[in-house]
Amino acid sequence: MEIVSGLAQMRQISQDWRTQGQRIALVPTMGYFHEGHLSLMRYGREAADRLVVSLFVNPAQFGPHEDLATYPRDLERDSGMAREVGVDVLYTPEPAAMYPPGYQTYVTVEELSRGLCGASRPGHFRGVATVVLKLLNQVQPDVAVFGEKDYQQLQVIRRLVADLNVPVEIVGRPIVREADGLAMSSRNTYLSPEERAAALCLFRALKAARELALSGAKSRESILEAVKGIITATPHTDIDYLALVHPETLQEVNTIEKEARLALAVKVGKTRLIDNTLLSESRLCCV
Ligand code: PAF
Repeated sequence: MEIVSGLAQMRQISQDWRTQGQRIALVPTMGYFHEGHLSLMRYGREAADRLVVSLFVNPAQFGPHEDLATYPRDLERDSGMAREVGVDVLYTPEPAAMYPPGYQTYVTVEELSRGLCGASRPGHFRGVATVVLKLLNQVQPDVAVFGEKDYQQLQVIRRLVADLNVPVEIVGRPIVREADGLAMSSRNTYLSPEERAAALCLFRALKAARELALSGAKSRESILEAVKGIITATPHTDIDYLALVHPETLQEVNTIEKEARLALAVKVGKTRLIDNTLLSESRLCCV
């Protein structure tokens, strides 16, 4: 595995691969890998001849009072894990190269970025869309792989590549959970033992909602009421949003027609966690 931080070198490598007719997968990440990242990498490994993983803690997607400075970073650990999975290139661009002095071009996916996390993190999806488009332009992959935990992000990116005719296939992969159900996230490292225990209420709430939907509950009120009850009964929690939305448009829905996405963001202590699940009338979906 090569660790590449220069854009020119990254471009040359991917151009050489393309000349040889090789298919390239990209897994964009902000590092501090966990099993969720590794599952995306394993998918990318199978989906293409060459696998690039980008590791870039993108300043443009953090608000002024967010955790950019404290976001966990450990390149040595990450590169060992990436090597084990069979990554060909770990691409680690420098912030000054991604956003040099004079930088002023940003991409906004208008409607999809507004609600849910976009409402409490203004500018977040503008930063995500911008950096993802830059990474796609730099690496020029055939396929790019993202996790469904950041469900709104995935929809924003799908819209971005469709609207701007970016020639890449976007693949969303299922959430990877700890044995007790907590969705894997680099930010879980911020949780104290009590907060870690409290954080399980997100999964419990999603499971309860899923059972309700399967037993015939369809209305937004009945489902969100149950979810809210479980979370507010748990110490250290503060709900940012609970939402039942159309799986693609992310517009709020009042009832589940075939399928809907239940998405939530909850502060546990000082750590903001997100999670989501597909709610369906049939047993075919999973948390
Ligand atoms: O999901 C993430 O880790 C980031 O938002 C991404 C897609 C790598 C863009 O910085």
